[in-house]
Amino acid sequence: MSMSHPFPVDVVVMAAGKGTRMKSRWPKVLQRLAGVPLVQHVLNTAAQLNARSAVVITGHGADQVEPLLLVPGQALAVRCVRQEPQLGTGHAVQQAVPALADDGVVVILSGDVPLTQADTLQALIAQCGGQHLALLTIDFADPTGYGRIVRGGGGDGQKVQAIVEHKDATDAQRQIQEVYSGIMAVPAKRLKNWLGRIDNQNVQGEYYLTDVVKLAVADGVSVVAHKIDDPLQVAGINSPVQLAELERAHQLRQAHRLMEQGVRLKDPARFDLRGQLDCAQDVEIDVNCIFEGRVELGEGVKIGANCVIANCAIAAGAVIHPFTHIDGEKLGVSVGEGALVGPFARLRPGAQLGAEVHIGNFVEVKNSTLAKGAKANHLAYLGDATVGERVNYGAGSITANYDGANKHQTIIEADVHIGSNCVLVAPVTIGAGGTVGGGSTITKSTEPSALSVARGKQISIANWARPNKKK
Ligand code: UD1
Ligand code: CA
Repeated sequence: MSMSHPFPVDVVVMAAGKGTRMKSRWPKVLQRLAGVPLVQHVLNTAAQLNARSAVVITGHGADQVEPLLLVPGQALAVRCVRQEPQLGTGHAVQQAVPALADDGVVVILSGDVPLTQADTLQALIAQCGGQHLALLTIDFADPTGYGRIVRGGGGDGQKVQAIVEHKDATDAQRQIQEVYSGIMAVPAKRLKNWLGRIDNQNVQGEYYLTDVVKLAVADGVSVVAHKIDDPLQVAGINSPVQLAELERAHQLRQAHRLMEQGVRLKDPARFDLRGQLDCAQDVEIDVNCIFEGRVELGEGVKIGANCVIANCAIAAGAVIHPFTHIDGEKLGVSVGEGALVGPFARLRPGAQLGAEVHIGNFVEVKNSTLAKGAKANHLAYLGDATVGERVNYGAGSITANYDGANKHQTIIEADVHIGSNCVLVAPVTIGAGGTVGGGSTITKSTEPSALSVARGKQISIANWARPNKKK
């Protein structure tokens, strides 16, 4: 993917706009597509360009946008500069000028255009070549609202002469279907010079970045258009409807990419990936599943309908039945080979299931390790527990792991049988091979192979007459 160029690349991301049509308290560039803020998509793409730096121009909601960008995990050096007030795209990029070195090529992107591909930008940068002004363009059947690519002059009359904004365009210019995407690559030194010369003498009274084109032409710098035919890559988001449309289009592409790798999706239109999904061979995923964070699915894994699965590794042959919720968050979750989970199971951070473990309906597992073949099939809770091989953990049983202040460990050794509706009050150890009678509240550790029962003794009164209702 990453081609290297004989010059440094710096990225400018315009993200100062308000996004009025989103009707949100949050700035537009923080709205999420596939679970990731729009502006972060743009920075992720910039990182794939091996860019030297990125300058994000903030304005509306800057106090919300900047903390999100200036985090340690960011793959490239990001600086934020503020644009207040917002006097147009040219004015926006002017704010970045002091932060830009002279020796680079500047790639200008928009924080609300999330799906541009790195290889497209690499091609654009190559067209710039460190000396030309390269514009990313596309033909639209309905170009209303966009800046038009005006060509003329030169030998073939096809040289780019200017970008004319829709509102400033003549009727004849409005017939032009080739539009400016909002993305350009330009030598920094030239850009700085041209930005110093633009004005706001236009219909909108704004400083147009697009006016650099006519200045380039006047300076004898050639302007090249890199035209693509994939509208998704230049699609901007202005409204909830556009956000949802782009989400679906993006999800469909992700679904197709997975299917091309052999993953069998029951319905690519009912699939959502908000992170990274790595699948081995013969993985099958039923409808309406959501994958988040980092998820790995081993060979032959089957995911039933309506599962939400995040930050988790599922080993070969495991089956996740419908309506299961798994989120490993920071600790992760692992599901062993051939394990069966769900339906209606919940695996929380630190759940580590060994091979052939069974977790059934309405069972919650948190920060617990279950060894090979352990089973908790119905209505149970395991928190902060270590469970040995072949343990059978009865319906309705729970570990009482929290005393109101601290969490404590429960250890259930191999081959233990916990009856139904038991409470294991941690810290406590159930010795190997032991049995706990149903309904027991266990507060003391038990010996291996012992039967432990801790409940009120049953009494039965023979021939007992129930009271009669008074007349
Ligand atoms: C711009 C282009 C137009 C192109 C279109 C593609 C200009 C003058 N016109 O038009 O040729 O076809 O994009 O979508 O550049 N922004 C700021 N500060 C400002 C103004 C805008 O940061 O003062 C940001 C916006 O938040 C947005 C981006 O710049 O992310 C583009 O601004 P927008 O108002 O959408 O530009 P358009 O008028 O659509
Ligand atoms: Ca726009």
